[in-house]
Amino acid sequence: MAVVTDQLHRPLTDLRISVTDRCNFRCVYCMPKEIFGPSFTFLPRQQLLTFEEIERLVRIFQTLGVRKIRLTGGEPLLRQGLETLVERLAAIPGIEDLAMTTNGSLLTLDRARRLKAAGLRRLTISLDSLDERTFRAVNEVNFPVSRVLDAISHAEAAGLTPVKINMVVKRGTNDKDILAMAHRFRFTGHILRFIEFMDVGTTNGWRLDEVIPARQIISLINAAWPLESVPPDRPGDVARRYRYRDGGGEIGVISSVTEPFCRHCSRARLSPEGQLYLCLFAPDGYDLRRLLREGFSDQEIREAILRQWRGRRVRYSEERLQLTESRPKVEMFRIGG
Ligand code: GTP
Ligand code: 5AD
Ligand code: SF4
Ligand code: SF4
Repeated sequence: MAVVTDQLHRPLTDLRISVTDRCNFRCVYCMPKEIFGPSFTFLPRQQLLTFEEIERLVRIFQTLGVRKIRLTGGEPLLRQGLETLVERLAAIPGIEDLAMTTNGSLLTLDRARRLKAAGLRRLTISLDSLDERTFRAVNEVNFPVSRVLDAISHAEAAGLTPVKINMVVKRGTNDKDILAMAHRFRFTGHILRFIEFMDVGTTNGWRLDEVIPARQIISLINAAWPLESVPPDRPGDVARRYRYRDGGGEIGVISSVTEPFCRHCSRARLSPEGQLYLCLFAPDGYDLRRLLREGFSDQEIREAILRQWRGRRVRYSEERLQLTESRPKVEMFRIGG
């Protein structure tokens, strides 16, 4: 099968599927509470792609080169019956990796085991601080640290490993917690990743001076516990990997602001209502749901996706530093980062 590439010669190998725009957290960098209050309305159910529709699209994407699927949200565990979707996707030949990013709040041990049995391989859980006050202030719903730590244990016990832990670092908010987080997850087998605060969406009040450069995070940790770099798993991966020289395990940094990685970006994104986004920072998507619901054939849908990917030239993070005014952008909780 010929490899499908875009205008910058990037293949299409990864698909991130957001299964719901709803979330039970209101993280300050994603869905600030003052904007996403009780009167904010999410997508009505009939607007969401059904599991049948998602499965059909994944089968088509697979024929275009997609090998890796990540389920996101919003909070993906809020989607009813998610295990059924996992089961359907895990059964598709050619899908080599099936993972999910969650805030962990709904992950009981039983749920983790059911997800594993359905065919999920790995879990990534977000945790921005071990300090109770800081974490509750970041998630804005008073959610305790201990329950996210429980979720991490459940993921491990269920074999959804290696468990990755995402920490979005925001200056003045949780940058003081970097070393404590590193220390907590050394020698656990979990992979902690530090993420630069990004200007996704238009509501999180992003400022460049609130970004702690990944380079700085690495030198801080390196001074405490010496690190060495590890080659990337695959060329399109977002995290730069390091390991502790004393055998304490691996960490990663995701430097999308200070050292963007668009050159190898092989990710497409599918929103809950079936819009195809070619970049995390795209202003809008391409409506695949219309094709699904108006009776287009698999071949026609495949052609449409192919045309979109072939025309793709986005590399927002690489251009950001030259941009003078802000552009319209999709919100992160709609396309799951
Ligand atoms: P694996 O490599 O499969 O373990 O997962 P991942 O790192 O791709 O997934 P995860 O959902 O944990 O993403 C980590 C962070 O990287 C999130 O904050 C994402 O928003 C960010 N990220 C993922 N993909 C992109 C991308 O294409 N562009 C940018 N700028 N950020 C991304
Ligand atoms: N900057 C960086 N990462 C973000 N995430 C959500 N919003 C932002 C942002 N503004 C992260 C979450 C989660 C992942 C999917 O995206 O913490 O770990
Ligand atoms: Fe926080 Fe993730 Fe929910 Fe956004 S989608 S508010 S990052 S838990
Ligand atoms: Fe890919 Fe867009 Fe992120 Fe660049 S900014 S890595 S093109 S999703």
